[in-house]
Order: sequence, then C-alpha cells, then structure tokens
Amino acid sequence: AIDPNFERTRERVDERDGVAVWGPVEPPEKRGIHGTHVAVDFDICLADGACLEDCPVDVFEWVDTPDHPESEIKAHPTYEDQCIDCMLCVDVCPVDAIDVDPS
Ligand code: SF4
Ligand code: F3S
Repeated sequence: AIDPNFERTRERVDERDGVAVWGPVEPPEKRGIHGTHVAVDFDICLADGACLEDCPVDVFEWVDTPDHPESEIKAHPTYEDQCIDCMLCVDVCPVDAIDVDPS
C-alpha cells in the first residue's frame, strides 16, 4: 500500500501538469508518487481503472509509463484540486495505491 507519510519520507523531485511527483523516480521501474492531496503510488498502481471510472469529478487521467513492471499506464491525479474527498477512489483501488488527505 501507499505510504501515507510520503510527504515526510520522500522528496519532491518533479512536477507534471502542476502536480507534484515524489521520488525516487528512476524509469522504467521507479515512477514515484504523483500528487499530494490525491496521491497515487505509480509503483503500486496496476492500471485497474476503478479510480478513473468512479471518481465523481474526474480527477484522474491515464499517463504512459512504458516498461514499468506493473503496468504501462497509470492513473495521474491531474485535477487533484477538484477533489471533494469522497474517498471512493481509496476504497475501490484493489492494491491500495491511492492516499487522499482531506484538507
Ligand atoms: Fe475523486 Fe473522491 Fe478520490 Fe477525490 S476522493 S479523487 S473526489 S474519487
Ligand atoms: Fe491504479 Fe488503483 Fe486506479 S490500480 S488505476 S490507482 S484503481
């Protein structure tokens, strides 16, 4: 499961679509955690897609992660600022790749 303390245990190393990326990022195997309010551990996500289907405000978008051992696409929280903290994505992800921190 994603480490809910990632903001303390990891370093912010990059940004994508205005969304923070927390390292380590060493492609293709290590892709980091994407997002802060809505955080997805790209190394755990296996592209189940439930988060994209169920999020009522369409926070997530697929992005390509070629040659990652779990899956070649991941759910990136592009619109995390729209999140209404319903926690659906956290509940439906089969591998607990998502952490939502209500603000
Ligand atoms: Fe979407 Fe709800 Fe998850 Fe926020 S908590 S990203 S609104 S499904
Ligand atoms: Fe990935 Fe879990 Fe969504 S596996 S695609 S974060 S439901």
